[in-house]
Amino acid sequence: MKELLWDKTLSVDVLEIDQDHRRLLELFNRLGHATEEGEPQAYIEALMDELISCTAWHFQHEERLMEKYDYPGLDEHRAEHQELISSGKALQQQLQRSGAPLSAQEIEFLEHWLSAHIYGADMALGSHLAEVM
Ligand SMILES: [Fe+2]
Repeated sequence: MKELLWDKTLSVDVLEIDQDHRRLLELFNRLGHATEEGEPQAYIEALMDELISCTAWHFQHEERLMEKYDYPGLDEHRAEHQELISSGKALQQQLQRSGAPLSAQEIEFLEHWLSAHIYGADMALGSHLAEVM
């Protein structure tokens, strides 16, 4: 599988956000490896639960910073978070229902789910925060 490796291009220039993102990347990579290595379903589901709850917590963290530092794009960014959480939870439920490991396509979906938001909305947020914090 393609690992999501941390590098400077992923940095949004705000340390506390970067630290959260690194943790999410790590969980995604662990989930991908566990899937590839045919680890037990219960372990894969536990990793998926951790990824989703860590993401939900991280979104709250970002939203708190946006409120605190009057980010003009807050509503739009929050809406994107809500969409991501609901598509992530849908995949989590699908994993639990099917009792089968994630497919390569689902892993690819998660990879995009994670990286596209960081490269897009979070970069814009990072530039704002880096100026005002
Ligand atoms: Fe975000």
